Amino acid sequence: MKTVLVTGGAGFIGSNFVKLMVKKYPDYNIINIDALTYAGNLENLKDIEGKSNYTFIKADIRDKEKIENIFESNDVSAVVNFAAESHVDRSIEEPEVFLTTNIIGTQVLLDTAKKYWKVNSEDKYCKEYKSGVKFLQVSTDEVYGALGKTGMFIETMPLMPNSPYSASKASADMIVRAYHETFGMPVNITRCSNNYGPYQFPEKLIPLVINNCLKQKDLPVYGDGMQVRDWLHVSDHCSAIDTVLHKGKDGEVYNIGGNNERANIDIVKLIIKTLDKSEDLIKYVKDRPGHDRRYAIDNTKITTQLGWSPAYTFEKGIKETIQWYLDNTEWIENIITGDYANYYSNMYSNI
Ligand SMILES: NC(=O)c1ccc[n+]([C@@H]2O[C@H](COP(=O)([O-])OP(=O)(O)OC[C@H]3O[C@@H](n4cnc5c(N)ncnc54)[C@H](O)[C@@H]3O)[C@@H](O)[C@H]2O)c1
Repeated sequence: MKTVLVTGGAGFIGSNFVKLMVKKYPDYNIINIDALTYAGNLENLKDIEGKSNYTFIKADIRDKEKIENIFESNDVSAVVNFAAESHVDRSIEEPEVFLTTNIIGTQVLLDTAKKYWKVNSEDKYCKEYKSGVKFLQVSTDEVYGALGKTGMFIETMPLMPNSPYSASKASADMIVRAYHETFGMPVNITRCSNNYGPYQFPEKLIPLVINNCLKQKDLPVYGDGMQVRDWLHVSDHCSAIDTVLHKGKDGEVYNIGGNNERANIDIVKLIIKTLDKSEDLIKYVKDRPGHDRRYAIDNTKITTQLGWSPAYTFEKGIKETIQWYLDNTEWIENIITGDYANYYSNMYSNI
């Protein structure tokens, strides 16, 4: 039986991934470790809580002792590292936690995995690992920096991150690469474009706009709103990670995207239209410092080499997503009131 350690599994993408894995692989053990920062919400995982192949452990990926204990007590065969500080605006306000979690946290996980996976952990020249082990680093297209009006990100491009967030993610990518080159560790790095879908924390564009529309509140749009992002439904991101986990070639980087470029302002207007609201709600605000103008992913490598392709069109995905937020206003209210933070103590008080 395979034991997959998923970090950051109480966040937006991590919780969607954990649910996919628990349901798709009943013969795997899925261990979700999460520090439950403001972005971690165990309510996202309610429907799999009682499953026998699922375990939640509250842990910080920077805590070496705790991570080592988890490896000591579980025969971990794969790590999928989602745990991160993920909001660019917050990284501008408070970069330090981005560096410690996103970089040092990744190094702690790598070091521990190396210790438990290497056939001879004492020998620094040993590049032999237990069979079937893998470290998968979930990264972002933001590590490549910004594009002009044309062109797309490909995996071999130099990394030119512009925000403290993307710089921390790029640093982590470099460390993961170094563990492969220096220690022979079986790794993959995935770099995905902007995600949307259920369970996204309402500080991010799409849930924020939906929620503010429903409450007739201003819709803040940075600068001229013409920043272009390449949107992918979260379940397509999760299926791509599953594909890389099982089929990815050791040491390789895979871009993930669905060829769906949209300007932020067009997304905002689409949501307004769908919810039958007025564009008067739009309020243009001073642009974010260092705001990248355009991202676009070339997904040729993952589609041709691993056979992955997205299942969602944007039209279907955004429609379902808006409906999900309409059907789950209580989920958003629990975040806004802060009640979601009590879920852990209510449900796991005996741990
Ligand atoms: N959201 C996107 O559009 C997007 C796109 C590409 C890549 N990514 C990457 O995917 C990953 C997940 O993104 P997300 O949007 O789900 O983020 P998120 O902020 O919703 O979730 C992050 C999770 O990590 C946990 N966490 C934070 N610090 C931790 C620590 N020190 N130890 C353990 N857990 C910790 C949080 O509690 C939270 O549950 C990130 O690595 C991000 O860089 C995100």
